[in-house]
Amino acid sequence: MATNSDYSGLFIVLEGIDGTGKSTQTQRLASYFSALGWEVVLSREPTDGPWGKKLRESATTGRLEPEQELEYFLLDRKEHVENLILPSLKDGKVVILDRYYFSTMAYQGCRGFDPAEIRRRNEEFAPRPDHLFVLDIDVGTALQRIGHRGDTANHFEKTDSLQRCRDIFLTLAGESFVHVIPARGTPDEITLQIIDFLEAKK
Ligand code: TYD
Repeated sequence: MATNSDYSGLFIVLEGIDGTGKSTQTQRLASYFSALGWEVVLSREPTDGPWGKKLRESATTGRLEPEQELEYFLLDRKEHVENLILPSLKDGKVVILDRYYFSTMAYQGCRGFDPAEIRRRNEEFAPRPDHLFVLDIDVGTALQRIGHRGDTANHFEKTDSLQRCRDIFLTLAGESFVHVIPARGTPDEITLQIIDFLEAKK
């Protein structure tokens, strides 16, 4: 496994179920680090690469079989790690990701795979972040935020599976690099909580 001693950059990941505001917060964090003079790489998974595109398409054209879906997330991530994440960290940049392998633990975990096994397979090639912020809200609030009315949900957004995803994310709490951030507040309040935490670590 690549560890943080292998690079001089800073690796930050935001996770959480759909509707927790990850993309807003990753953008705000990117501005924060740019203002401090860091070179920032902001990215997301699934990526816009070939495997990521197939995964995004599958949200509208029909969900892939569980094995194939898991395989595509792994292939997408391998490419992301090799071509963008590790080179940027080695160049001393701050890399901020909207989703990473903890999403695979949660989302493919709730399709029946063992989250611990998914983690093991990922950590064979994917570096662990310096900081993982899990934005956490209850599933009801999350569904309201993504405009779910019970009839138009796509397959990623069903209530019971989101609840199981949330539970898997919360099993990460307590590890030294993991910070669970209650995400019911305003975007400003959530940004402040994340930044306060990062400043305390300096
Ligand atoms: P999301 O970031 O919510 O995409 P968008 O910006 O299009 O809303 O991610 C799309 C979905 O992919 C999301 O519901 C979670 C799912 N996902 C997995 O199932 N496994 C994974 O490993 C990742 C990274 C995402």
